[in-house]
Amino acid sequence: MPYSEEFGDFYYSRADGRAECRHVFLAGNGLPQRFAERPGFVIGELGFGTGLNFIETWSAFETAAPEGARLEFHSFELSALSRSDMARALSAWPDLAERTSRLTAAWPDAPAGDIRLEFQDAGRSVGLLIHAGPALERLQAARLDADAWFLDGFSPARNPDMWSQELMRLVAARTAPGCTFATYSAAGWVRRNLEAAGFAVEKRPGHAGKRAMSAGILAGAAVSPG
Ligand SMILES: C[S@@+](CC[C@H](N)C(=O)[O-])C[C@H]1O[C@@H](n2cnc3c(N)ncnc32)[C@H](O)[C@@H]1O
Repeated sequence: MPYSEEFGDFYYSRADGRAECRHVFLAGNGLPQRFAERPGFVIGELGFGTGLNFIETWSAFETAAPEGARLEFHSFELSALSRSDMARALSAWPDLAERTSRLTAAWPDAPAGDIRLEFQDAGRSVGLLIHAGPALERLQAARLDADAWFLDGFSPARNPDMWSQELMRLVAARTAPGCTFATYSAAGWVRRNLEAAGFAVEKRPGHAGKRAMSAGILAGAAVSPG
């Protein structure tokens, strides 16, 4: 189980990180169904971690998206894992081995700076861009209009910076019309920060014994990051 000494938290659910990804981040954003509806889709993620969410999303995209479709996956990551740590973490899912080995083969041994990777599958393409550094700083400069956001920056109690109102406003400002978000957190102050940024926030049943998670849609115009 990958664990961060710095933040005192696990990278994903100890029950089943992959099932959590499907329940919280994919289903929470209406995926994979929305992949089928358009030729291009942009995802923004706060916290790339082991790449599990990316690999699971990539698999879902290949299955659901139309021929010729493209996925752009932008992830904001403060301290990217080394290739060997990533491979070790992802080895827990042998049926993801094919994509895991493609990701780790292209991943730097010891990442320093942004990472841009391209993957081609039968008629579909996937671009992965890791924006290296503090999410707040990198999101200020980033150019993207995400269709869906995965908010995955460790528990809000352990890493409040990844859930601040300032950051949630930047997330809202980097979205396409009708953009959705999902997170495992149902903390009241996180929901309020998302609402203040312009998202309509819904409480939904959580994964594996967690009472609730949050998901929603950008209701109107994003509130300016100020
Ligand atoms: C819960 S893990 C993400 C798990 C990941 N999505 C996966 O599929 O494995 C949280 C990630 O957020 C990163 N992080 C924490 N604080 C950050 C910050 N201020 N800016 C950018 N990334 C941050 C951590 O380094 C860690 O990789």
